[in-house]
Amino acid sequence: MTTQPIKTVAPKPAPVWRHHHILDVDDFSREEIELVFNTTQAMKEVLSRPIKRVPALRGKTLITLFYEPSTRTRLSFELAAKNLGADAASLSAPASSVTKGESLIDTVSTLQALGADIIVMRHPHSGAPYIAAQYVKASIINAGDGWHAHPTQALLDLYTIQEHKESLKGLKAVIIGDILHSRVARSNIWGLTTMGAEVTLCGPPTLLPTELGEQNHHLPPTNIEHDIERALDGADVVMTLRLQLERQQSGLLPSIREYVQLYQLTEARLSLARPDALVLHPGPVNEDIEIASAVAHGPQSVINEQVSNGVAVRMALLYILAGSQKQ
Ligand code: CP
Repeated sequence: MTTQPIKTVAPKPAPVWRHHHILDVDDFSREEIELVFNTTQAMKEVLSRPIKRVPALRGKTLITLFYEPSTRTRLSFELAAKNLGADAASLSAPASSVTKGESLIDTVSTLQALGADIIVMRHPHSGAPYIAAQYVKASIINAGDGWHAHPTQALLDLYTIQEHKESLKGLKAVIIGDILHSRVARSNIWGLTTMGAEVTLCGPPTLLPTELGEQNHHLPPTNIEHDIERALDGADVVMTLRLQLERQQSGLLPSIREYVQLYQLTEARLSLARPDALVLHPGPVNEDIEIASAVAHGPQSVINEQVSNGVAVRMALLYILAGSQKQ
């Protein structure tokens, strides 16, 4: 198989890049996010070739370690690694020695002993990737930890938005739904504000984080709007979040029906946003709960583009990380 080199198209990772691990985007600079965008553009060119492969990560080993289910994140990392010539293996915690009581630290140490250069991990507990990062030389990529962060999802969301808009600066971005339990929302709040967008959060008071407002030590400033019509007025970007249906059982929602009435993104509500507003959703989607089917599949939806861009953005991140490991 012949492959064309990537060096002709991808910018050099140094000196902007400072990270050995990717744990969140809260410590990413605008220049680092722009480096990810530029490198993603080069990866999209690779993916447009008849042979969608380059040997940039030949000799590297990536292992995905997932303690929670995933479709998009896990598969796109595995595809990204293979497209770059890396060896990729996956471990699902429920089918591993974790079920025999093996600790997180012993598990990641074992993956490193098996030759992992990069470990992509998803864990139900916020902070778990930060602990793992203290015990291994391999780069840890956070693929979602508890309610805390999902940095690669945010980066692919930002990339998808900037593909359609000239710049993120000055855009009005509205995030609607269960923000309290959303790692996607938290990472997007950081990424969007770093890139100069104005963020409005919209949802019932019980589903908004308590660290917002005066006690906010952990998130950049955002607008809060409980009324969805007012939130959508003039929006450039509308991001809906999956309603985690178990929230009704935990008493945070009176009923799903009431939530749908008050917060579903319908065609009528979307018409209050700008005519060229983009509709995003990280998936998986509860169609006709947080978003009407007609909107999810409508002309303003970029949900499938988010999924496709996920492969290119993750290729870019692996390429940049591997470049920084050599230094
Ligand atoms: N957006 C996202 O994290 O999807 P998966 O759970 O399918 O990976």
